[in-house]
Amino acid sequence: MQDHSVQTFDPKAFRAALGTFATGVTVITAVGQDGKSIGLTANSFNSVSLDPPLVLWSLAKKAFNLQDFVAAKHWAVHILSADQEQMSNQFARGGAEKFAGVEPVSSEHGVPLLQNCAARFECTSTFQYEGGDHIIFVGEVKKFERNDHPPLVFHAGKYALASLKDNDFSPPRATGTEPPTFRSDMLGYMVGRARKNFLDSMRVHLESNGLNDYEWRLLTIILTKKNLTASMFERFNKDAALETILATLESLRQKGWIEMVSDEGLGEPTYTLSQKGVYDSVRLLAIAKSHEEHLMEKMGYADGMLLKSLLNKFIQKTEGSSPNLWSDEFVLKEKAAQ
Ligand SMILES: Cc1cc2nc3c(=O)[nH]c(=O)nc-3n(C[C@H](O)[C@H](O)[C@H](O)COP(=O)(O)O)c2cc1C
Repeated sequence: MQDHSVQTFDPKAFRAALGTFATGVTVITAVGQDGKSIGLTANSFNSVSLDPPLVLWSLAKKAFNLQDFVAAKHWAVHILSADQEQMSNQFARGGAEKFAGVEPVSSEHGVPLLQNCAARFECTSTFQYEGGDHIIFVGEVKKFERNDHPPLVFHAGKYALASLKDNDFSPPRATGTEPPTFRSDMLGYMVGRARKNFLDSMRVHLESNGLNDYEWRLLTIILTKKNLTASMFERFNKDAALETILATLESLRQKGWIEMVSDEGLGEPTYTLSQKGVYDSVRLLAIAKSHEEHLMEKMGYADGMLLKSLLNKFIQKTEGSSPNLWSDEFVLKEKAAQ
């Protein structure tokens, strides 16, 4: 642990140390002295007392609306939900555009109340204290609301998602003495198993459309990327031999999902979706999406978001040198290589 004594007190390091304390994110709103709505993003919010119900937050003395908040008799605290990052950014920006596109309702005291937050507290401003370069506001909660949206988290200067720590689901850690097994915390095993579970329950929809797993895999690629040749699939998809790819493409063609277009420049045909293919694949994608939502519900909305965000990060960070079929450069490079 790095030691920062008062003599070497570096404001940047101080901020970074404070940032290790993960908080939620709130937007505080009130009515200014001229009757206009005012608000700002604040993570200094905290609970103070249950009886009476008191909460606090602090406002920088240089804040544009300092005098308005000092004069306000009422304000509201909105605990933002995980999908309100954009709202947090909007209220953290200086200027008059904070309420642009936001449709608040008015409290009985005229305080603008924002919708779809994880929780909301309507308060009367009770005490104000000097706090260095901030003023600390304490308010008594007169009304509150809560819904089950997961909260937005702020940690180390960045937004984060909260995932409830559940030891039942921690992967078993291999001990130093135990030989590694497939059942320990091997990522490859978990990713493969997750993919299997996903496909197992999706398969019934594929089969009722006359498709097997691999045909669906190739279709989703063709749906995203036009004009691919069988050898481009092979170079990208190292899990199947060219003969398997050709046989699968031919089967899809015979079933009317795709069309083969000859390309003299490339020296081999490219594949595109037929009209039926476009229509039916989009329909299947919609089924896949609702299937995904059904599976996500099993682990909870917040964990589902977290899983997707971490998987996306994993994909981006590990892309390495393997060809990225989804980038436009891929087809161009492949063409140039012919
Ligand atoms: C996550 C986050 C938390 C913040 N917390 C506070 C806070 O607790 N107090 C504060 O005065 N400013 C805080 N800010 C900065 C203000 O939101 C920002 O300076 C805002 O523009 C102030 O409003 P004003 O421009 O009307 O003065 C925070 C910003 C972010 C992004």
